[in-house]
Amino acid sequence: MVPVRAATLSDLDTVVTLRLALLHEAHESPVYGRLRTDVVRLARQLYRAQLESPSELTLLAELDGAVIGILRCVEANGHPLLEPDRYAYVSSVYVVPSARRKGVVRALLGRATQWCRDRELDEMRLHSAAASSTANATWDALGFTVVEHLRVCRVPPRPSKRPAAEQATAGVGKPGQRATATRTAARAPVER
Ligand SMILES: CC(C)(COP(=O)(O)OP(=O)(O)OC[C@H]1O[C@@H](n2cnc3c(N)ncnc32)[C@H](O)[C@@H]1OP(=O)(O)O)[C@@H](O)C(=O)NCCC(=O)NCCS
Repeated sequence: MVPVRAATLSDLDTVVTLRLALLHEAHESPVYGRLRTDVVRLARQLYRAQLESPSELTLLAELDGAVIGILRCVEANGHPLLEPDRYAYVSSVYVVPSARRKGVVRALLGRATQWCRDRELDEMRLHSAAASSTANATWDALGFTVVEHLRVCRVPPRPSKRPAAEQATAGVGKPGQRATATRTAARAPVER
């Protein structure tokens, strides 16, 4: 069995490396492929906070002193009208290419299952890339069934009668330009 341990803050560099490798590998995904330019700085901030959070656990698999795989599980609230009231959300699952098909994710998930039992969580959920045959085969083999599809539709820009140059001087963004206004929005648990 591949040894698995809980990550600590001292593993931050490794966690950033593995989780960004996962994101880079998903570069063709409509959800995970659009990385921000300052992704490394943001990743360090985000992953540090996650490593410090008492409601989640990042697991690392090691072989010969090297970290070869990662899996994160978060205690998440269920829908207020539905059972279960809490479940484990699994994310950030990545095994370095040279260590694949050796039971690494099986071992990480085994440890995550223990964590669920310790917290009296009786369900695990995750999002996975629909187009990845490897991810599909893995989650099928490990007992995760598909119960929903995440559908994505890009909202086309608002049609405008004025020419683009005139819009820019009026302070309205050009087509494709990112809005700068800060708004509060609910965060759905779709995460790598
Ligand atoms: C998906 C991934 C995490 C699997 O990790 P792994 O350590 O290689 O998986 P395991 O060796 O524990 O395999 C568990 C089972 O999954 C299935 N499986 C894994 N990889 C597979 C593949 N390439 N083709 C077919 N089945 C596969 C097998 O049934 C396997 O059991 P077996 O080897 O006894 O037949 C790894 O390939 C990876 O990191 N891929 C890139 C990132 C990614 O897709 N992450 C998942 C995001 S949702």
